[in-house]
Amino acid sequence: MPQKKKISEHIKDKPDIGLSFDDVLIIPQYSDISSRKTVNVKTKFSRRININIPIVSANMDTVTEAAMAIAMARYGGIGVIHRFNSIDEQAEEVRKVKRAENVIIDDPITISKKTKLSDAVAFIKEKRISGLLVVDKNKKLEGIVTWRDVRFTQHRNVTVEKVMTPFKKLITASPDIKVEKAIAIFDTYKIEKLPLIDKDRILHGLITAADFLKINKYKNAAKDKNGRLVVAAAVGIKDGMERAQKLVETGVDALVVDIAHGHHKAVIDLVKKLKKVYTNVDIVAGNVATYQGAYDLIKAGADAIKVGIGPGAVCSTRVIAGTGVPQLTAILNSSKPAHQHNIPLIADGGIRHAGDVSKAIAAGASTIMSGSLFAGTKESPGEYFVEEDAAYKVYRGLASRDASFDRGLKEHNTDRAERAPEGVSARIVYKGDLNKVLFPLIDGFQSGMSYVGAKNIGEFWGKATFIRTSKAGHKEGLPRSLNS
Ligand code: XMP
Repeated sequence: MPQKKKISEHIKDKPDIGLSFDDVLIIPQYSDISSRKTVNVKTKFSRRININIPIVSANMDTVTEAAMAIAMARYGGIGVIHRFNSIDEQAEEVRKVKRAENVIIDDPITISKKTKLSDAVAFIKEKRISGLLVVDKNKKLEGIVTWRDVRFTQHRNVTVEKVMTPFKKLITASPDIKVEKAIAIFDTYKIEKLPLIDKDRILHGLITAADFLKINKYKNAAKDKNGRLVVAAAVGIKDGMERAQKLVETGVDALVVDIAHGHHKAVIDLVKKLKKVYTNVDIVAGNVATYQGAYDLIKAGADAIKVGIGPGAVCSTRVIAGTGVPQLTAILNSSKPAHQHNIPLIADGGIRHAGDVSKAIAAGASTIMSGSLFAGTKESPGEYFVEEDAAYKVYRGLASRDASFDRGLKEHNTDRAERAPEGVSARIVYKGDLNKVLFPLIDGFQSGMSYVGAKNIGEFWGKATFIRTSKAGHKEGLPRSLNS
């Protein structure tokens, strides 16, 4: 992990001034980086979860469900599934992510050899698969029947047994086969399906050639040790333990205790409880904006800290409650205990441009979380709607009147809405595919690193220094018309 973050003199001398992204620039330094493409942006989402780009999609109901989390992980980041649904609905979103690129199908669809061929054909068509494994009642593998075996067969009154490829002609492997070995088997035998069986021929899983093609398509994907995409999910205080249990059973990689004011006894207590019960899942906690907030959550056992009180595009906490810390200062201050204890920081909210990603990470964060940048993409929840000849999607704060109204209806069957909502709701222009937003962010961030000569994020933390900028200095840096 990190070298200690160096903070430029200008900022160290004035710790009480709250600075945000537009108040600073990263000072350029000597660099020997030949191309920004060579800069390594691998990072940690949390203590044990490695990801390949420092980008996280926010746990908001207009940002991250399975489609967003799948796309994020395929491109190398991670999504946090929101918690504003039932426990079963949230677990289902996690399950979809974990199955999206699963090279091993744990529970393949099977059939008995006594099934009539016409029923098997109907089953193959209904499930839209290319073939079925044939097993006995103890799940002992007896053969495979594929679409190719049956597509021209006129006599569909016979049983599957008559047309299947019997066990003795099958290529199989053991359930703990490594990915490289499986690829070699597909290559040697030119087969489409590789059943995984134990020494008693009992079926434990299936690998298909088609799934390997998916892996090759997304070379930068962030995966767990079993080759499945990584995913996190949010939990709250009220049903945190119950939600956590179902999410962990479903295979979630990290739980995010996400509370607007994370420097709170209830959050500390929940983090401690979760850490005690779930030793194989990382526990992320937030949101905080101070040294002490980050320190107390780290002491409670948190495996990553989420930083940001009020910087977000649809946040009104600072206006309504009058609290918060400008985001750059919040990251700088929280990064001190985080770097001392090797705990990653997630800079949550307020990112508008790629340059803000560079500044957030230069300040000590390991990743940035965004809602507004990813809302309105094809992968965000909900359909787009057309108004005044343009397409839009909805993006709303979790504490907005709209969101709390919907939650009131769902949870209590009342139309109760917050009287002082700390968030707003907006329509956002439809952006199309996520990669149109995501790839420029990464390119810009790599460019930022190359300007200080940093080959990886650890070096960036060690080398980057900031200069405060005047209003005129900030204005000077904005693209402007050449005709005025
Ligand atoms: P961006 O700027 O990326 O911020 O859209 C996303 C983050 O905003 C936070 N969030 C809220 N903050 N009231 C708030 O004060 C809200 O209603 C609200 N909803 C979301 C959250 O941390 C998210 O990741």
